[in-house]
Amino acid sequence: MLSARSLFQEIVDHDEAYRLFCSIAAGGEAQGGWENGRIAALIPEGRRDLAPKAARHGADEDKHGRIFRALLRRRGLEAATVPAAADYTMLLERRGIGLAHDRLRAATPLTEEDVITYLAHSRVTEQRASEQMRLLRKHFGDHPELGRAVRMISQDEDNHLAYCHEELLRLARDGRGRTIQRILRDCALAEIAVHRDVSLAVMDHMGRILGWPAPKAALLAVGIRLHYGYERLVGWRRMVSLRMPERRDALGGPVTEYA
Ligand SMILES: [Fe+2]
Ligand SMILES: [Fe+2]
Repeated sequence: MLSARSLFQEIVDHDEAYRLFCSIAAGGEAQGGWENGRIAALIPEGRRDLAPKAARHGADEDKHGRIFRALLRRRGLEAATVPAAADYTMLLERRGIGLAHDRLRAATPLTEEDVITYLAHSRVTEQRASEQMRLLRKHFGDHPELGRAVRMISQDEDNHLAYCHEELLRLARDGRGRTIQRILRDCALAEIAVHRDVSLAVMDHMGRILGWPAPKAALLAVGIRLHYGYERLVGWRRMVSLRMPERRDALGGPVTEYA
């Protein structure tokens, strides 16, 4: 039976597949940590209230990177090189989504539109992260090796998403609604395509590592493309809506440490 649970179980049970999974996750999280750290440093004078939240956001992503590296170490595995086609953050940047790394390396403060770009990009990518971690938590939340890590990261990603909703709504109230909607739409449409491409690349590598028969690999590829078709038709809309979260100021405290 092909299910998210059985697929993931196969990956967890196989050292090389698990190594690739954790390495891809660790790389993406560390990248997110760096980006958010730079954003925190470049927040403009008029929006200084955002700086500690962006810094906390970055600290959380750095912590997630450390958690995935700790999971590798616990198995006695070294991080693997992430294949370029599976590098989600790099592919998004190449499509011009979010703030370019050259922009983040510069010392000039962000403009208000840059802040919207940052929050909209995060609104979309944190939705993905939150959904993926909820799926993992549903199936592996009690797993002896992974459970605690998965539960903690899932809760953090939910907080990141709540923070993006709240801050974007605040900017929308200041009259930036049209800009926000335009940027959110561009981000969502690009993200769903990048997510499809990365999923196909990861499944291709996993299939080879796990020795999947061709029909199984083909069926999974069809599933990924069908899912993209659904997201392109209607699913993308869930990534651009804004709703005030139940939990306000979700990033308003220190990082919860993973000991
Ligand atoms: Fe994360
Ligand atoms: Fe996140």
